[in-house]
Amino acid sequence: MITRRTALRAGVAGASVIGTGGMLLPVVTATADEPRSAAADLDPVGIAKFTQRMPLAPVLQPYLTTNTTSYYSMTLKEATKEIVPGLNTPVRTFNGSFPGPVIKAESGRRVVVKQTNTLSDPTSIHLHGGHVPQDSDGSPMDLIAAGGGTKTYTYPNTQPHANLWFHDHAHHLESENVFRGLTATYLLTDDVERRLGLPSGAYDVPVQLRDARFAQNGELVYQMGDFQHRNVILANGKAWPFFEVAARKYRFRFTNTANMRFFDLRLADDSELVQIGTDGGLLTAPHRTNSVPITPGERADIVIDFSRYPVGSTVELVNKAAAPGEPVDLIGRVLQFRVTRTASDDSVVPAALRTLPPLATATVTRDIELRMDETGAPSDMAYINGKTFDMDRIDTEIAYGATEIWTVKNVNQFVPHNFHMHLVQFRVLERNGAAVTAGAETGLKDTVALMPGETVKLQATFTGYRGTYVYHCHMFDHGAMGMMANMRIA
Ligand code: C2O
Ligand code: CU
Repeated sequence: MITRRTALRAGVAGASVIGTGGMLLPVVTATADEPRSAAADLDPVGIAKFTQRMPLAPVLQPYLTTNTTSYYSMTLKEATKEIVPGLNTPVRTFNGSFPGPVIKAESGRRVVVKQTNTLSDPTSIHLHGGHVPQDSDGSPMDLIAAGGGTKTYTYPNTQPHANLWFHDHAHHLESENVFRGLTATYLLTDDVERRLGLPSGAYDVPVQLRDARFAQNGELVYQMGDFQHRNVILANGKAWPFFEVAARKYRFRFTNTANMRFFDLRLADDSELVQIGTDGGLLTAPHRTNSVPITPGERADIVIDFSRYPVGSTVELVNKAAAPGEPVDLIGRVLQFRVTRTASDDSVVPAALRTLPPLATATVTRDIELRMDETGAPSDMAYINGKTFDMDRIDTEIAYGATEIWTVKNVNQFVPHNFHMHLVQFRVLERNGAAVTAGAETGLKDTVALMPGETVKLQATFTGYRGTYVYHCHMFDHGAMGMMANMRIA
């Protein structure tokens, strides 16, 4: 166990806990007191805040469109980007974009993506949240060879609208590949979503949020399990950018693409955020709140009405998920909105957004225990039900079509986790024994937060495809330490 002394040395004063009422206070854990090459690090305090414009990721166009299918191709390649003003940073990208491009897909219409990997490491491209056949899932063992390997992925898009995303999943490499940039966005829409009249076009903005650590020469500094030094916050690939808005409603589709950082998004004046969706698409009704927690892998679809701000004013998007000892002046700041003009607004946020199918009757229950070593040693391992990941071992056998309830518990005292399942969107029935009846967790989810000691009860129906899929903690460093397992649907 980690001692209080170890925790204090690591700058974590009295690691404390727990998520209540949707307000998650993340907890960091101490890892090794390994010597740091601190001299070579770029001091984030010196990075100018809110001087760079937040870019929009380019929308990728299909190279071929038929009655049923849109065909795309992407190249995984190295590129150099100005993330911090005045510095050049080598990154691993989809098509040279950091973050990668956006694919806009429609339910009922197939998407085929050919990926060519020119990087010097193997990759596996996972469509996070996608309901897809095993051979297109981008599993940890289904690699695209480095140095020019290719793979064609088919996405049937038989699921309803959802905000999905791409990231690398090559086992033991995903953590570093993602840290160095291998993420992109995949927005799946359908008639249910389209007919609502939500903010659209230029007023519908995908934003990938993450953290990073830089050397003075601009290079990203990657160390496994390094939660202490990734103190630069990036929005769409820029450190602490600004974004100009009109005084009207905008829809922001946030994805937490950080390896380990939890965000609790707020406006600096604590005014209202209207959360309309989560991982698996829209909520049934808007959730009016001042706090939107998202852990790595999760998505939050939010409407902000800037008409309450005078033209010429600014408001910051901040992050309240700081653990004791973390530099709030850095990781507490995210993005500055500048209200620069007025604009007409005929968009609406209807009181009813969608309906969700009634819950099927579950016939199987399982217990899942997430645990990692909390010794602070560099050799720390992470486990699901006491085992580290073995890609050749099937951990859970599931009957095709079954509806199951999984009780997932984080038994750690200090380390937060989250839990992600491939193939399915699940429902969160309970958190810490209390029924989930309000808020963002009432929607379809594929990733769910678990603060130390927390338990969630999830329900999923395993249908559509047979095969082997993984479930894991979505803090990529933890997955790479072994917190991942296989389920086989047969
Ligand atoms: Cu985004 Cu297996 O995960
Ligand atoms: Cu974890």
